Amino acid sequence: MQQYCYLRVLVLLSICCVPIVYSASNITTKGTELVDDVGRVVVLRGLNLPINAKMAPFEPLKDKKALSRLQTLPLYGASIARVLFTWEAFEPERGQYNLDYLNYYLTLVETLYSQGILTIVDMHQDFYSRWLNLGCGEGFPRWAILVDPILQKNPWNGPTCVAWILQGPFDVASKLNWKLFYAGENGVRDRFLDMWEYLAKTFAKNPAVIGYDILNEPYGDEVNEIGPLYEDAAKRIRKYDQNAILFIEPQIYKGAGSKTNLPQPTFSNYVMAFHYYGQTRDPHKVIVSSFEEALTVWTNQTEAWDVPMFFGEFGANTDKNLDNADFQAPNYISMFYDELDARLLGGTQWGWTDDYNDKTKDGWNSENFSIVDQRRNLRSNFAVRPYPKAIAGIPGQFKVDSIDKVMQLSWEVTDATLAAGAASGGRGATTVLFAPIQGFFAVPHAEQLDIQVTPNAGLTCSYSTDWLTFNCLASQAGSYTLIIQPQQLA
Ligand SMILES: *[C@@H]1O[C@H](CO)[C@@H](O)[C@H](O)[C@H]1NC(C)=O
Ligand SMILES: *[C@@H]1O[C@H](CO)[C@@H](O)[C@H](O)[C@H]1NC(C)=O
Ligand SMILES: *[C@@H]1O[C@H](CO)[C@@H](O)[C@H](O)[C@H]1NC(C)=O
Repeated sequence: MQQYCYLRVLVLLSICCVPIVYSASNITTKGTELVDDVGRVVVLRGLNLPINAKMAPFEPLKDKKALSRLQTLPLYGASIARVLFTWEAFEPERGQYNLDYLNYYLTLVETLYSQGILTIVDMHQDFYSRWLNLGCGEGFPRWAILVDPILQKNPWNGPTCVAWILQGPFDVASKLNWKLFYAGENGVRDRFLDMWEYLAKTFAKNPAVIGYDILNEPYGDEVNEIGPLYEDAAKRIRKYDQNAILFIEPQIYKGAGSKTNLPQPTFSNYVMAFHYYGQTRDPHKVIVSSFEEALTVWTNQTEAWDVPMFFGEFGANTDKNLDNADFQAPNYISMFYDELDARLLGGTQWGWTDDYNDKTKDGWNSENFSIVDQRRNLRSNFAVRPYPKAIAGIPGQFKVDSIDKVMQLSWEVTDATLAAGAASGGRGATTVLFAPIQGFFAVPHAEQLDIQVTPNAGLTCSYSTDWLTFNCLASQAGSYTLIIQPQQLA
């Protein structure tokens, strides 16, 4: 009890605290972790957005009103966004970049950054183009299509496209098209690389852009087609941007949980960016591994390559598996974040639909993954929950009990941590947690929290003035455990 009172005084006295706003240049890869410029281990979490950007006119967050809605994202704990970029929008005619689209994209990126959110530029596509996969695809411009028009279909993206991911590998036209693309037919692959070079030049100095996801859910042969494309794209990007983190995705169907055959990249500062949608597992148990099984396989690989792992996409359809509680959206999503927490992993959930409604849903192929509804209230596939944004020292365990609303972090502060703190005005020794008092613990004020730190000397902790983040500055080396939960009412 004494310990609690001691902390409560600190909480009440706290008038300080600069919110943690990273610029892209603060963060880099180091072994299997992301670290900041003062050596703290960084966890980045957030959303894919806007996921209704896949079809013309590609700019759902164009006006000020739409952009202002992004102000809620920090309350959900977002520190990163994977922002969809569409080649068809940017280069509608071969050789002519649409700078209006680029400006739209830059405004979106800047608006996110003003909310403390970094951007991954995501070269988005699904089965190449809207004219392929029976009109259910999206991404690349029509001029980039390499198969005969007779094999193409008009863009549709309506209700019959609901099984687009299962029909994709049987779509003769898009399969042939990918082959021709990788073979360099008609210089289209070169145009793709030219675009990346241009974008790297555009974003290199932009503090909001942490890196580039070279190709969303690529189809093709990992060894002979996808791997070499990444190598060539990395060369073009590095001409102008040496510091950006490259987000590398395995072939689309490896998302079911199997090992990638990608050759180990020769470039540095990259992250393996996996996608996993395990809710589809229930009726297809044989095809999709459990998340734990998939993590075992994938961790094996990232550890062998000594690179970080990130989840560029995951999410839940609110209607799936109503007869199996484990796979219903709230339970499934909570399981997913529990697994991320146990490994201190980051990721971006799919996603934010700006004008979700029950009729058009996410606005593409009848998908139903939006975390907000038509009034932009959170849906059952997302829950606000704490996570450590920066750990000053050696991370131990992190755990969230989302039912009883308990959050627990342990970490070890070393002499090196203290030295990093001394050299940076305390920053390098400050652990920062997203731990919203109202959003997660559901109490009105910090006074209603029970905050325990063990041992109770050596750390000075306080809430930020917006009551979203909890900061602990270490002044002594040692192993610490922090537990935050609502006070038990007598
Ligand atoms: C990012 O680095 C700069 C110095 O390079 C520093 O001033 C700023 O506080 C850092 N941001 C965070 C969140 O640590
Ligand atoms: C982990 O990798 C090693 C080789 O690097 C392999 O022998 C082993 O089977 C892998 N384990 C899993 C679970 O994939
Ligand atoms: C999408 O989810 C909402 C509920 O969150 C539901 O009302 C609607 O029927 C769903 N649509 C489909 C077909 O997935």
